[in-house]
Amino acid sequence: MPSDHTSIDSLGIDVLKKALNQRVVITRSRIVPSNRNRVWFVETDVRPVVMKRSFTGRSPVEFETMLLAKKAGIDVPYPLFMDKHYLVTEFIAGESCDLLINHMFSHDAAGGLGRWFAAFHERLESFGRPLVMADATLQNFIMQDDRIYGFDLEDASHGEPLDDLGQMAASILGSEPFFTPIKFDLCFTMLEGYEDESGLESLESVRPYVAKHLRNSARSKPLFRRPFEKVAQTLERGWPSLA
Ligand SMILES: Nc1ncnc2c1ncn2[C@@H]1O[C@H](COP(=O)(O)OP(=O)(O)O)[C@@H](O)[C@H]1O
Ligand SMILES: [Mg+2]
Repeated sequence: MPSDHTSIDSLGIDVLKKALNQRVVITRSRIVPSNRNRVWFVETDVRPVVMKRSFTGRSPVEFETMLLAKKAGIDVPYPLFMDKHYLVTEFIAGESCDLLINHMFSHDAAGGLGRWFAAFHERLESFGRPLVMADATLQNFIMQDDRIYGFDLEDASHGEPLDDLGQMAASILGSEPFFTPIKFDLCFTMLEGYEDESGLESLESVRPYVAKHLRNSARSKPLFRRPFEKVAQTLERGWPSLA
């Protein structure tokens, strides 16, 4: 077994055996870009899966939240197996929302994202308080046959739903092409999807949260700090008129 950092280690192989079966044959595996964890797409003779090796020890939280979401009818992958450091889930084939929003400018994807969050916030709660995803970025969503699937639920916790919406809006506006009129339109479509599904006003109340998340994301983009700050300041006063 090669020991470079892109291949699955022997602990990972054991995890796949437990998740699928002892005699599973791995036909192909490919590492997926990830900032915080190590994630592989794994083709096997049983079924394709995604295996995530967590460096945060939060695999159990992600497993439980996925299961809770699945039971509540929210589109997430089926979790198959977890231990403290690994999570194995069903593989969802589809297009990344990053590509659909930033390259295809898909309003279907934008509206679907808003509806996905409305369902998540409405149906997932514990002790009367809503659960939020807390990692609401385009990279964590895929569209398959007009349905949006969300993953990366390891940070899910009690919180303010507008934080999720603000983070998603900032992810739409603040990824290239930055702050173009079509990105604002896609952002509005996402928020309309949320309002339609939840019946809750969000367009105005989310503005300070979008500003906050734009400032957060500018921390990792030193060259773009000024334009991000400018848009954040504008948003604190109102949505810009772009005509
Ligand atoms: N079940 C899945 N089906 C298809 N792609 C997935 C699945 N889970 C994760 N991915 C892809 O792998 C990437 C990294 O996984 P993610 O859970 O977001 O890990 P990280 O915490 O490292 O961001 C995601 O952005 C997504 O593109
Ligand atoms: Mg992710």
